[in-house]
Amino acid sequence: MSGRRIPVMIPRLGEEEAQAAADAVRSGWVAQGPRVARFEQEFAALVGAGHGVAVSSCTTALHLALVVLEVGRGDEVIVPSFSFIATANAVRYVGATPVFADVDLATGNLTVATVDAVRTPRTRAVIGVHQGGVPFDVAALRSAADGWGVALIEDAACAAGSTAYGQPVGAGSAISAWSFHPRKLLTTGEGGMVTTDDPACAARLRRLREHGMNVSAADRHASAQPVLESYLETAFNYRMTDIQAAIGLVQLGRLVGLVAQRRALAARYHDLLATIDGLVPVRDPAHGETNFQSFWVLINQEYGVGRDEVLAELAAAGVSARRGIMAAHLEPAYADVTSAPLPVTERLTRDSLILPLHHALTEDDQDHIVGVLRKLAG
Ligand SMILES: Cc1ncc(COP(=O)(O)O)c(C=O)c1O
Repeated sequence: MSGRRIPVMIPRLGEEEAQAAADAVRSGWVAQGPRVARFEQEFAALVGAGHGVAVSSCTTALHLALVVLEVGRGDEVIVPSFSFIATANAVRYVGATPVFADVDLATGNLTVATVDAVRTPRTRAVIGVHQGGVPFDVAALRSAADGWGVALIEDAACAAGSTAYGQPVGAGSAISAWSFHPRKLLTTGEGGMVTTDDPACAARLRRLREHGMNVSAADRHASAQPVLESYLETAFNYRMTDIQAAIGLVQLGRLVGLVAQRRALAARYHDLLATIDGLVPVRDPAHGETNFQSFWVLINQEYGVGRDEVLAELAAAGVSARRGIMAAHLEPAYADVTSAPLPVTERLTRDSLILPLHHALTEDDQDHIVGVLRKLAG
């Protein structure tokens, strides 16, 4: 090894983002203001939603989605355990009980059957996660949730630029939560968004992210007349800054190119990995296209080497891979939750790993990574 290191992810940030952030600073308005408003409109348009409400993270977006749906104590919310822990945590923030459902082996996503298996009369909502960018079957889950009289929140943290049934993930969704953490395709450092088609829901979300005020601080500042605000409910400070939104506005223009580049690199991984027995890379589901935010590979028995050993060998060869997506029910924070058996979740979290995939990954890098995997297989 020549001291080369291949990171699992590098955010695509350039001089344009630096300039935009500097312009926001020079404007003298750095808190939530005009750039946040523009970012909301442009992001919502990009994902086919009527309204966007920018917040500080996807975690706070999920929290507000549950608050706005008035989910609370005594309610159950079905979530995949196979997700970043924020999905389950948000349910606890509102005092409700997370109920873990298993996922499909190929997509890592909830299905109508896995949700139905754990549904009870106390189920108020389901949080479907478009895991790693792979869209869940929105047509099936939305119509099942409607039939059950249960709200469907979409955790689209990873899914900007993914599509389902030919539409962007987010289109036709009652409420979706997004992340702009640097591990995602679009980043604002930290940051998130809630999108919805319902104007009343959007209006309440705007109030909830800003202390419950009936008028935003930006609007008060812009007014020539004194505006006496009032606080309509106990709420939160989950605002995004204009510096973040300035960066986000530049990032939006990169999305189409980033997705195309990732899909081309993923296709090349598929070709290279097809020659190694026992490695099953994530692929597009029948109903849509992933942005390949995470390129995970499931290790089957024929491969002959366990996941942790593979990770160690990759690390020794300068490749920063990651364990597969976590399972919340196996973490100490959820040790008190009794769930139905989650065999697919446990299989996926134990036997999968995430390979580097980002705009700066070269074919030479891919050959090196797959070379390590091939050599290990013997
Ligand atoms: C599925 C999912 N939901 C929620 C989050 C939380 O996002 P954030 O870091 O923006 O709070 C993540 C972050 O990795 C995620 O992958």
